Amino acid sequence: MIVLGIECTAHTFGCGIVDSDGHVLANVNSEYVPITGGIHPREAARHHSSIAPKVLAEAFKKSDISMDDVDGIAVSLGPGLGPCLRTGATVARALAAYYDKPLIPVNHCVAHIEIAKMICKSLDPLVVYISGGNTIVAAFSSGRYRIFGETLDIALGNCLDVFAREAGLSHPGGPHIERLALKGNRYIQLPYVVKGQDVSFSGLLTAAIRRLKEGYRLEDLCFSLQETAFSMICEVAERALSHTMKHELLLTGGVAANKRLRSMLSKVAELHEATFKPVPLQYARDNGAMIAWTGILGLQFGLILNVEKSYVRPRWRLDSVDIPWFREGFP
Ligand code: ATP
Ligand code: FE2
Repeated sequence: MIVLGIECTAHTFGCGIVDSDGHVLANVNSEYVPITGGIHPREAARHHSSIAPKVLAEAFKKSDISMDDVDGIAVSLGPGLGPCLRTGATVARALAAYYDKPLIPVNHCVAHIEIAKMICKSLDPLVVYISGGNTIVAAFSSGRYRIFGETLDIALGNCLDVFAREAGLSHPGGPHIERLALKGNRYIQLPYVVKGQDVSFSGLLTAAIRRLKEGYRLEDLCFSLQETAFSMICEVAERALSHTMKHELLLTGGVAANKRLRSMLSKVAELHEATFKPVPLQYARDNGAMIAWTGILGLQFGLILNVEKSYVRPRWRLDSVDIPWFREGFP
């Protein structure tokens, strides 16, 4: 079985082609990078519609297969930015209708988890998924990925990006902050907000920007921002690990690129005798292959949708999706 997956929830338009043995035949992604400021949804959508034919053609060229070999078209219908989601859905619907292929709806967050599990050979992990739009600690229980902690306001990646922008650094800000933090040597007190199992970054962001305007050294602020935010994630992840007693800790999402975060979470895993599995970057950030692979899993369980009913779902929550393909402790 072969599925073509289309990712289009935010800044990336991606096409992935994956078979049911988990071979990634193609994973071609094009990222919209704003010239100034953050991501404007309509500008990103315009980028996606203009680049879509090229990305699609390249994916087929790389995979060396044709549309005849494809058994289904998977598309990320949410969560994400409305204009971007609609662009991806339009491409997927058109392909499904024209070539008479089943259309498979995929939840973007589920896809991050499934590709991470497949690539890292992980069966039943505690997942820490941190990106520009999401901050979620989740694990499988009773038919779904349950959330064992999430952000109450902005995502961690977004917090880093906005702080970086205020400091005059280009988008995305995460890598700049990581680089500057290495030169920081003084911890500046910033708000550490953990409520139960949830975290909040908006107060931290406001305080960090205020300190920046007060003239504190940027390197020290980057260091302090990382230490504070990452410690919050570690606290929540550690409690979730202890509660769920999972034996693997899987780190995914764009922020998984950060070496300091990796090192802190690997210590958390070690303390609880869990294996730490950071997802390789090309599969940790938004990509088409994750949608294709989750499409394979869905198609095997007949999870297809009529084109007429394929509405986008900008606020589609991870814990509202049934996961029929999961077998606890499998194999
Ligand atoms: P989602 O739609 O799942 O929320 P996304 O659209 O934010 O994903 P990703 O590519 O998963 O896309 O993540 C991008 C985020 O990762 C940005 O906020 C960026 O700053 C952050 N990031 C990238 N590299 C690093 C790094 N080295 N350190 C910290 N953050 C990083
Ligand atoms: Fe994502």
